[in-house]
Parts: sequence; C-alpha cells; structure tokens
Amino acid sequence: MPKPHIPLEELRAQVATCRRCPLADGRTQTVFGDGNPDARVLFIGEAPGKNEDLQGVPFVGAAGQNLNQLLEIAGLKREDVFIANVLKCRPPGNRDPRPEEIEVCTPFLREQTRTINPEFIVTLGNFATKFVLKTEVGITRLHGTLQQAGRFKVFPIYHPAAAIYDRTKWAALENDFATLGELLKQ
Ligand code: URA
Repeated sequence: MPKPHIPLEELRAQVATCRRCPLADGRTQTVFGDGNPDARVLFIGEAPGKNEDLQGVPFVGAAGQNLNQLLEIAGLKREDVFIANVLKCRPPGNRDPRPEEIEVCTPFLREQTRTINPEFIVTLGNFATKFVLKTEVGITRLHGTLQQAGRFKVFPIYHPAAAIYDRTKWAALENDFATLGELLKQ
C-alpha cells in the first residue's frame, strides 16, 4: 500500500520548527515554499537568499525577478506552480549548500514532492538537478533536456540567478523556458 501523504500545512509546520542543522541558528525564518498545492509543475531552486529569509517566501529577490519574467515565457503564473528549494534555510552569505545540510533537509523536499505530486519537476541549477536526478552530470550539459526520475518528468534549467552575473546565460534561460511552455502544451 502506498504511504499516506503528509498534508502540506503539516509539513510546513514541521519545517518551521526544524533544528536538524546549524543553519537554524542563523535564519530569520524558514522558507517552506509557495504556490499551488495541486501544481502541475514544481520548481526547485537552491536555498533562500537574504530577501527570502526576511520574507519567508522563495524567489522574491533579484533571482525571483528573473524567474517571474521567465515564467511568463513558459505561459505560467506564479500562482499556477509551486516553488520550493533544496534547503529551507539561508546559508550564511549565500554560500553553497553543504552535503550534510542537503542530507538532513531534503526529506522535507521529498515529502513535499510526494504530496504535490506534480507532472513536471523543473530543477533550477546544479544543486536541485543533482539531487533530483542523482547525477554528477552538470547543468551545462543537462539544461533544456527532458529527463525522468521515477514517475516525474524532470526538466533541468540554469538557475535564474546565473543570468545576474552572466548575461550570456539569459538566452539559454529564455530558450529553455520556451521549450518548457511547449512541453506543457503536449
Ligand atoms: N535562489 C534560490 O535558489 N532560491 C530562492 O528562493 C532564492 C534565490
């Protein structure tokens, strides 16, 4: 028999009091995720940044502005999709997530994914892609290619923050979000 799903609000409450790793000491609050609990598409980013930590909502800073523009290209609105991160707490100075943080935090993401049960998972950047696909192949090779993980279609895309520092990534992001829009029409 399949395991029962944990309701999202119950998961949100579990995340809010989590003390599984030292990132709990530095956070303003956890960033559980946001959007439609019945979404067809689940976006997974890396970890909250400064603005997300302050507001408790994913992708509200500069990367979020980019993401909002890109969602439009795919014909999506934020309220249609669910947006979550690999880590629920901000790493200090926005450093990369550490393997031990990913290990203790991702059971929450796994449960979120089971509960939302999306058709597509869009992984934004290397950390989400490596976690979902269990691969060491980097985002530079995988972006824009349709993959499968269990029952989920997985579509890796560069992290929207990549275009903040490297404008040449913007064309690839636009192109991949346009492809995502086409995949969603099928
Ligand atoms: N970058 C991420 O990966 N996630 C956020 O929520 C914000 C910035």
